[in-house]
Amino acid sequence: MEQQIKNLRERAQGAIKNSSTLKELDDVRVKFLGKKGELTSLLRGMSQLSAEERPLVGKFVNEARAQLETLIAEKNSELKAAELEKKLTSEKIDVTLSGRRVHDGHLHPLTLTLNRVKEIFVSMGYSVEEGPEVETDYYNFEALNLPKDHPARDMQDSFYITEEILLRTQTSPVQARTMERHKNNEPIRMIAPGRVYRRDDYDASHSPMFTQVEGLVIDKGISFADLKGTLEDFSKKIFGEKTKIRLRPSFFPFTEPSAEVDVSCVMCHGSGCKVCQGTGWLEILGAGMVHPDVLKMSGYDPEEVSGFAFGMGIERIAMLTYGLDDMRLLYDNDVRFLKQF
Ligand code: DAH
Repeated sequence: MEQQIKNLRERAQGAIKNSSTLKELDDVRVKFLGKKGELTSLLRGMSQLSAEERPLVGKFVNEARAQLETLIAEKNSELKAAELEKKLTSEKIDVTLSGRRVHDGHLHPLTLTLNRVKEIFVSMGYSVEEGPEVETDYYNFEALNLPKDHPARDMQDSFYITEEILLRTQTSPVQARTMERHKNNEPIRMIAPGRVYRRDDYDASHSPMFTQVEGLVIDKGISFADLKGTLEDFSKKIFGEKTKIRLRPSFFPFTEPSAEVDVSCVMCHGSGCKVCQGTGWLEILGAGMVHPDVLKMSGYDPEEVSGFAFGMGIERIAMLTYGLDDMRLLYDNDVRFLKQF
């Protein structure tokens, strides 16, 4: 019996030592110390022993149980510590790794320029109107005094969808659309920003799609002096206080008289440089007094009221204010360029 206990003890010690998981260790405990375990069945066999042997064997068994329980408890905490360590290393977060930065976006230079232009006119009391980019021949041309066979249509060769529907070549059709929404010679002071389309090249100064801002003012007694004053004020606000303007006679079918408007060169302030090709002036827009027939066609009485109108290209203004030498920079979406604004 004594030998059996010794043997059991050695086997149990070995099994405890070799347990590599908590589960294995628990299996060892059940196998040797459990209710149906080996040590317990040894105890049961004690009934066959003599009265002298019994206490002695009982002592051995209890010693063995106590020793094995201690060993198991020790091994248990050893395995628990190892498991925790393993978990800690496998789930470790390296807090020293720097975060991924989210870069803020910003508005496109063309949008910034358009917003600035809008801001200036809104501060002068203008409303902002919109019209469709897919326009009818009537609004794009006829309501602006360009009947079907008018030669001035050739300068704005466009993208036709049908004979009567086209991509608008100018924002001027919004003039007629806005006038039609008003009755009784009601005064108008509006701008109309938007995209326009012409069958054009794509080079440093042309694009088949570009952005315009139209302007229209109608009221009693509006004169050419009002037009000039407004454009001078606008030019100073957008290009700087020292800016001068110059009006040259021109022709547009929807205005009479008509003018091309130049501003003193934003680079050399009039002394002549590469940007203004030595002239000291830069053309920025077309303008004029609204033609009586245009007023009439859209329900206004030219005997009662008069008006002025203007139209400018926003790309050109963006190029001048930011000093760009190629219009395509505004469309190519090169992040290295766009990041600078
Ligand atoms: N619509 C003209 C163009 O695209 C620009 C223009 C000129 C608009 C004179 C006007 C104006 O309102 O009065 O070339």
